[in-house]
Amino acid sequence: MYGIMRELLFRLPPETAHNLTLSSLDVAGKLGLLNTFVSRPAPLPVRVMGLDFPNPVGLAAGLDKNADHLDALGQLGFGFIEVGTVTPLAQPGNPRPRMFRLPEHQAIINRMGFNNHGLDHLLERVDRRHYDGVLGINVGKNKVTPNEESESDYRKGIAAVYSRADYITVNVSSPNTPGLRDLQFGDSLKGLMYAIKDEQARCEKEHGRYVPLAVKIAPDMDDDGIGFVAAALKESGLDGVIATNTTISREAVAGHRYADEAGGLSGAPVREPSTRVIQALYAELGDSLPIIGVGGITDGDSAAEKIRAGAKLVQVYTGFIYRGPALIRESVEAIRRLG
Ligand SMILES: Cc1cc2nc3c(=O)[nH]c(=O)nc-3n(C[C@H](O)[C@H](O)[C@H](O)COP(=O)(O)O)c2cc1C
Repeated sequence: MYGIMRELLFRLPPETAHNLTLSSLDVAGKLGLLNTFVSRPAPLPVRVMGLDFPNPVGLAAGLDKNADHLDALGQLGFGFIEVGTVTPLAQPGNPRPRMFRLPEHQAIINRMGFNNHGLDHLLERVDRRHYDGVLGINVGKNKVTPNEESESDYRKGIAAVYSRADYITVNVSSPNTPGLRDLQFGDSLKGLMYAIKDEQARCEKEHGRYVPLAVKIAPDMDDDGIGFVAAALKESGLDGVIATNTTISREAVAGHRYADEAGGLSGAPVREPSTRVIQALYAELGDSLPIIGVGGITDGDSAAEKIRAGAKLVQVYTGFIYRGPALIRESVEAIRRLG
């Protein structure tokens, strides 16, 4: 059924199709159609970061930036859902068009630029949700906030969502906020990790609950960069790492008519670079700190590959756009077969 819907939706501009799909999902969810027609995976429980997940396949950040569609998305069989990236203040993001489909490559290029309605809106939506599964909230910094002051935006985000999130992701890897990815290196990274751990400790005292913190990194990092991230993660006591975000490389799609569009490339072309980062992180971290694998999962094999590389959980985005909910079940089954 998703195949037929996709045929129609893919005739529309990507962002229009995206919004229409999510509104239709909301309606279908409210009418009880999702519960009837979507075939969800059988449970494959896993405990990671002290949390119980019904299965290890989650929805990656960026699809439901404002937590507007949690109830519908929550009926599709995901083991967890990550909403956001949310910034302290609402911001419009980049001018359209800012999302491009490359179906020949099962890929997307996007330069959305953290378009979102801000923390207050997201919190209101989260408070109104019926979804009772595992909820990750991904926080970022506003475009107008200079990098030197980014710590304050991340602290604001963590403090605001702390009482509602099961885990919080600190996003330092979007290519679409100028300078953001510089926060992944050297003293900036260490400084930020200590600051967010400090905010977590403050919130833990205030709320009497420990909420794990993960950092989301880019695939465009050499081995030294990955080694540095791993060391900083261990040293600061972070609870998890999400690898990876989209890539700025265009090698895999060279010659495509959209290849020169600015932004992050996701989907099949990022599969290998993302798995490489997971492997390199796992070589440094072992089982001391969980890795959430994301990037280019388009079928069961690519999902299982992330787990074999050392990830404890996986997330999907672009593959889900191309394949629909069937990808969730297929990924869970492939991971189950790993035993
Ligand atoms: C249109 C679009 C918007 C995205 N927005 C965000 C975002 O707001 N925050 C974030 O951490 N990642 C964002 N991502 C990255 C995805 O969460 C994911 O890390 C990346 O796309 C690789 O996974 P995939 O190949 O399964 O798509 C976005 C990806 C796409 C395609």
